[in-house]
Amino acid sequence: MLALRCSVYAIFLVRLVAIQSSPDVLEAENAVFFEGKQVIPRSEASGQATLKMKKGQTVSIEFCLMMHSEIEVHNVWYSNDGESDLITITVDNKKMGEVLTEPLYKDGAGWNIFKPSETLDHFIYLSEGRHQLSLYIEKGDEYGVEIDKIELFLHNGKEEHSLDCKVFCFDDISYDHGIADTGFGHYTSKGKLVQKSKKTLCAEEDNINIPIFHDSARKFIISVNHPHYTSFANNRMADFDNCKMTLSLWSFRDIDLSQTQRVTQSSEVATLSVTPLKTDWQSNLISYGLIIEFSLDGPRIGMMDSEIGSVIKVSFRGIIHPVDVSMQYFGRWSKWSESTNKTIYSNKTWDTWEVPDFRWREGRGNSIRLTITAFRIERIQIEEIVMNKRGLAMDQSMMVYYDGMTIIEVVDIDAWWRVNETMTLKTLNDGRVFQGVDYFRIYRKIPWSENNFCQVFVMYQDGNVRLLPITPHGLDWIPFGSSILIGQSDPMAVRPAAPLRNADIDPKELTIQLAYLDGSFLSLKLDVTMKETMIIVSNPFYARSLTSHPFLTFRSMWVSNGNADVDNVSVDGNEPHHILSGWSTLRGTSFAFFRKCISKHNTLSPDIRVKIID
Ligand SMILES: *[C@@H]1O[C@H](CO)[C@@H](O)[C@H](O)[C@H]1NC(C)=O
Ligand SMILES: *[C@@H]1O[C@H](CO)[C@@H](O)[C@H](O)[C@H]1NC(C)=O
Ligand SMILES: *[C@@H]1O[C@H](CO)[C@@H](O)[C@H](O)[C@H]1NC(C)=O
Ligand SMILES: *[C@@H]1O[C@H](CO)[C@@H](O)[C@H](O)[C@H]1NC(C)=O
Repeated sequence: MLALRCSVYAIFLVRLVAIQSSPDVLEAENAVFFEGKQVIPRSEASGQATLKMKKGQTVSIEFCLMMHSEIEVHNVWYSNDGESDLITITVDNKKMGEVLTEPLYKDGAGWNIFKPSETLDHFIYLSEGRHQLSLYIEKGDEYGVEIDKIELFLHNGKEEHSLDCKVFCFDDISYDHGIADTGFGHYTSKGKLVQKSKKTLCAEEDNINIPIFHDSARKFIISVNHPHYTSFANNRMADFDNCKMTLSLWSFRDIDLSQTQRVTQSSEVATLSVTPLKTDWQSNLISYGLIIEFSLDGPRIGMMDSEIGSVIKVSFRGIIHPVDVSMQYFGRWSKWSESTNKTIYSNKTWDTWEVPDFRWREGRGNSIRLTITAFRIERIQIEEIVMNKRGLAMDQSMMVYYDGMTIIEVVDIDAWWRVNETMTLKTLNDGRVFQGVDYFRIYRKIPWSENNFCQVFVMYQDGNVRLLPITPHGLDWIPFGSSILIGQSDPMAVRPAAPLRNADIDPKELTIQLAYLDGSFLSLKLDVTMKETMIIVSNPFYARSLTSHPFLTFRSMWVSNGNADVDNVSVDGNEPHHILSGWSTLRGTSFAFFRKCISKHNTLSPDIRVKIID
């Protein structure tokens, strides 16, 4: 009997080491509230507190599993001063074992000495979700026992787990490839996904970037459906936590102008220097030259900072007599602008100068120069000087088609990132042509609503497409999440694009002929059913090599499990992969981009599938 127990224990140890090196911990003081719950501060206890328990009491501690796991109670840590106590431990009403505490007689000093029990005899298989571990004091002296913590081992094949469900993941979500039903897919050659994603902490950055290659890409289907996980939360607000906010392009504070020497200050993107220029002893006036040299991000990395106009704001301190300030800028045109002069009368008020669009250059080589003239003896200081991007105007949209079932709109964005590029849209039913379009969108009537429409398709001039299934019954709208770039792009670009020239739409058939700036073209057919929204792409001509330039690029966001627009990708119905790690290329003809973990970001944004037919 003893031998058997030993061998079981040995296997057990090996397994523990192999699967999990440190146990998960439940603090006893976090027990569910009960009448007379007593939490005692103890310096030696984990979490510096214990839960006092007396004979006959039962307490429960809740925990939550993210996946199906086998649970063992490794140790119950307790302190005792007095006679021994007998504690029964159950998980979800199944008895895991008993702990007999050691007696100790130290006149109260024993309460700060913590001892582990041993691993309890039994284990239990639990499904994902919430569970309860309960402690019952079956026998004990009048002083009871103090419980510090309970250590659990979870066996589920994963290295990392936790005992709370901040994130809830479904284990049983999968996509089959369903190629057989088309009859074609079996014969087409394999396509290839290439991992070009990077990590981010900002949920509004498209860090997931997966170009898709295929040697012909003559016909393929992109479809979207509601997430396969079950959630009725409809979180859809942008989350700018941990995002680099670029409203302010640079700023400096506390600059003392009354220096006799040149002084400089630098930030990541800008350098400021102040030099006393000249003193007019007659009038006792002195001029200071303040120069700020800076670099700006531009379209090469998908930004507009170098293209859009800006606002320079300055606030002064120590103004006694009015101070003259003259501002000039230097940038794209490689010469100093005319000066704009202002007189400053008061402390701590913002004086502003505006610089129009297209005056800066991308990267380095931008400057502004302030010439400040004041009485020599006055100690003028700049409290703060900031350069911001100008405010953006609202998108301008125009309805170009309406028939009671379908609406088509064209939209003009202020400061579209493909600088000076726009597309032309033609409605084939009436031959009208709309110029200067940055994106267009198609709405469909919601079947369960008398007069509401929902967006199902949006296409931007840079080739990006966003798709939605019909808004589910009972909701007003659901958010977009992942997007897909249709058309050939440079896979090395920071912000890939397949810029469009024309889109010709047949609104009745919902077919669209696309012509790209690189000379490529292709046809789309939009098909909206209750279950999914689908586009069938066919008859392409590719202007560039299909080996070096992907025909599609999947773009999305993953910050962490539960804060992601996509978390898994599966190919041809096989075992899924994590969207961001563990692979560099994947081959197949059917790709599903989906989520297993309920996301707080865009909770109901759709899953996307790409199926190469030919
Ligand atoms: C500005 O602040 C200084 C003190 O820093 C003060 O002496 C001066 O009177 C203020 N100027 C005005 C115009 O209020
Ligand atoms: C602005 O002030 C500068 C000197 O500070 C002067 O050279 C320039 O002529 C002024 N410009 C205008 C338009 O008054
Ligand atoms: C875009 O147009 C503006 C105004 O015509 C021009 O100044 C700018 O240089 C153009 N930018 C590019 C990248 O062509
Ligand atoms: C699928 O995604 C979830 C959430 O990111 C992750 O925990 C899981 O490991 C992924 N599946 C695979 C096989 O990597």
